[in-house]
Amino acid sequence: MDVEVLAGDDWKILQDVRLRALRDSPDAFLSKAETSWGEAEWRAFAVEDAWIVARSGDQVIGVLRSVRVDDRPAEERHLESVWVDPLHRKKGVLRAILRYLAELEPEVRTWMAWVLDGNDEARAAYERLGFETTGMRQLLAGTPRREERLRLDRKAAISDSIDP
Ligand SMILES: CC(C)(COP(=O)(O)OP(=O)(O)OC[C@H]1O[C@@H](n2cnc3c(N)ncnc32)[C@H](O)[C@@H]1OP(=O)(O)O)[C@@H](O)C(=O)NCCC(=O)NCCS
Repeated sequence: MDVEVLAGDDWKILQDVRLRALRDSPDAFLSKAETSWGEAEWRAFAVEDAWIVARSGDQVIGVLRSVRVDDRPAEERHLESVWVDPLHRKKGVLRAILRYLAELEPEVRTWMAWVLDGNDEARAAYERLGFETTGMRQLLAGTPRREERLRLDRKAAISDSIDP
């Protein structure tokens, strides 16, 4: 498996993997706007944040984006659009992506992730990787669904989890 950060002009790779993720796991993601996007929107999306992909041969088998949120501390990132191809789950793909990210973003101390209630698989994987709850929960506007914010501290990650 290879892990790499996408370049800005890799928008077609991003489009393909993100649409696969939305088709495969619609309940895991809030935004579905991408399904109607054209090239301009995909190009803009590709350069907005750092997109990390894992590949097996020519196929992209995992993805996430690391987002710097303006009103949050500079040493914090939010992980979004986290997805691994079902045929490759529980084989360490997300762990490998996080390990790569930890090297790519040495200034980052904490990674955050929101998990929707009921997404027990993602929660189990995150906890196994060292994420802990922040205790912060929120109701999603216009729905009865809630989500919870988890955090992974670099120290915990390096000692127990994503460090080789
Ligand atoms: C969540 C997700 C990205 C995990 O990816 P993954 O590549 O399977 O995760 P990893 O293999 O790196 O797993 C890390 C650890 O969690 C464990 N784990 C993974 N999925 C698990 C599950 N469903 N139940 C229990 N443990 C699980 C793994 O066994 C591993 O632990 P180990 O190294 O001690 O064996 C994947 O299940 C997925 O894409 N789900 C659908 C989309 C989604 O829900 N995204 C998250 C939105 S918040």
